[in-house]
Amino acid sequence: SIPIFTTVSAYRSWRREAFRNNRTVGYVPTMGALHEGHLTLVRKSLAENDLTVVSIFVNPAQFAPHEDLATYPRTLPKDLELLVAEKISASDTVRTPSAVFLPSVPEMYPSGIVQNVAEQLGTFVEVKGYGHQMEGVSRPTFFRGVATVVTKLFNAIEPTNAYFGQKDIQQALLLKRMCNDLLLSHPEPQNLHIVPTARDPVDGLALSSRNAYLTVSGRAVAPTLRQALQVAEAAWNAGHPKRECIAQAKKVVDTRAEEAKAAGLQVLIKLDYLEMNDANDFEVLDSVTLKTAGDLVILSGALYVDKTRLIDNILLGDS
Ligand code: PAJ
Repeated sequence: SIPIFTTVSAYRSWRREAFRNNRTVGYVPTMGALHEGHLTLVRKSLAENDLTVVSIFVNPAQFAPHEDLATYPRTLPKDLELLVAEKISASDTVRTPSAVFLPSVPEMYPSGIVQNVAEQLGTFVEVKGYGHQMEGVSRPTFFRGVATVVTKLFNAIEPTNAYFGQKDIQQALLLKRMCNDLLLSHPEPQNLHIVPTARDPVDGLALSSRNAYLTVSGRAVAPTLRQALQVAEAAWNAGHPKRECIAQAKKVVDTRAEEAKAAGLQVLIKLDYLEMNDANDFEVLDSVTLKTAGDLVILSGALYVDKTRLIDNILLGDS
């Protein structure tokens, strides 16, 4: 079994011991409902650190009042089983996750937390200018909630290295900027690592805790987003301007929606957005932009499958 810390002070005595013994601490923050995507991050941390800490905390501050905070999947016993089963052989030792941080909401929010941002008192972290594009368009207070909780978690955990998934690329890049802006030392910005998206080996669907919401028909059409992004990527690599790449991708979604309807599947798919943004400032690319060597572009999108909102992305110019 793994030691579970539910308070910051209990965790801190464990952390002090790790500091005394000069141990590196790798950290994987999660909201639980663990799957292979989370476990990829855990394995990377195990490989690169003496000790690995995983946190499980469903952060109320990153859910808008109309979002799925109440129904977000909570599978703690299974999560712990998955973590206990992880082990890797490193040099002359076998490494397994060293600790789980499992705080309560009041532990993380001593000033309280309310779903209505306008009524909120207390301290919040905002990475201004980087949280309103892409995911931020339909989730305007999301990144404020993420930046706030991750700052608190970093202050509590004091990791040497931290691991985030490319699946949530805007989150990972925004948090790297935050570490840099706030002069954080645990982790230092260059020690915030971005790990490639883990996917279903058969149809490429990005693994996500929210996939648990999908019906059988929903699961069947869910890879549409990935397919649309790949079509846009191919068009981009073939030298087409942005608007053409996006148009081709949207056509994939339309076609799939019609096919699903014709096949009598009881499922609705609807694109929330599909865009190309500059990876440095997240600004939307001009519609006539062409592929240029050296530019890093985020091709990303969100697809509603019935009421479930799925996201995915491809980094263009990253090879
Ligand atoms: P959660 O959605 O649980 O994801 C935890 C971490 O796992 C994130 O860094 C996410 O990008 C990564 N992840 C999820 N699916 C992945 C996949 N298929 N492949 C690779 N990595 C994947 O993201 C959050 O929680 C929260 O916003 C959090 C950072 C914990 C703050 O509350």
